[in-house]
Amino acid sequence: MSRRLKAYLISILLIMAVSPPSHGLSLGGLSIGQVEINGIARCSLNGDPNAPPISNGTVILTCGGLTANLAETLTQPNGFFLMFLSFLQTLLFTPSSCYITINLPAGNCSIYSPDGVLSAVLTLASVAVGNNTNVASFVAGPMLDNIF
Ligand SMILES: *[C@@H]1O[C@H](CO)[C@@H](O)[C@H](O)[C@H]1NC(C)=O
Ligand SMILES: *[C@@H]1O[C@H](CO)[C@@H](O)[C@H](O)[C@H]1NC(C)=O
Ligand SMILES: *[C@@H]1O[C@H](CO)[C@@H](O)[C@H](O)[C@H]1NC(C)=O
Repeated sequence: MSRRLKAYLISILLIMAVSPPSHGLSLGGLSIGQVEINGIARCSLNGDPNAPPISNGTVILTCGGLTANLAETLTQPNGFFLMFLSFLQTLLFTPSSCYITINLPAGNCSIYSPDGVLSAVLTLASVAVGNNTNVASFVAGPMLDNIF
């Protein structure tokens, strides 16, 4: 191998090593290494903030274009839920096409929804800049019947 070709190949390797990955979530110019999503599930079809919470309901994160659900978790007794996405899940996460659902009846909520499901869209709440990774925190809006 000529010295020149060698230098050329090494420079390509260096460029590959220092370039950030071309995929992945970026918000406000910050690349996001981790995502957390929280919200409160209530036993209401219209997002009534005074409705009793849903305890132990299964909350599912779905993103458009993906055939499988991205993540799921159970609600706490006060209806609160929190999901942490892994780095790989974060790569597949596109906030505008992702939403949260809970199938009714769920946990201790025995009401029926015509669609069988409550859904909520996600809103970016904050980005915490860390030493190793930036964490984006999303809040799921009120969970409503038939928003999609
Ligand atoms: C919560 O739900 C899970 C799955 O639906 C079930 O296996 C578990 O027994 C429930 N826990 C309580 C405390 O109801
Ligand atoms: C579900 O259980 C929680 C915790 O015990 C309670 O606060 C809530 O009111 C219950 N929700 C319903 C719809 O019964
Ligand atoms: C970042 O590093 C500094 C110095 O090592 C440390 O004091 C700080 O707690 C770290 N912050 C986070 C969010 O880990």
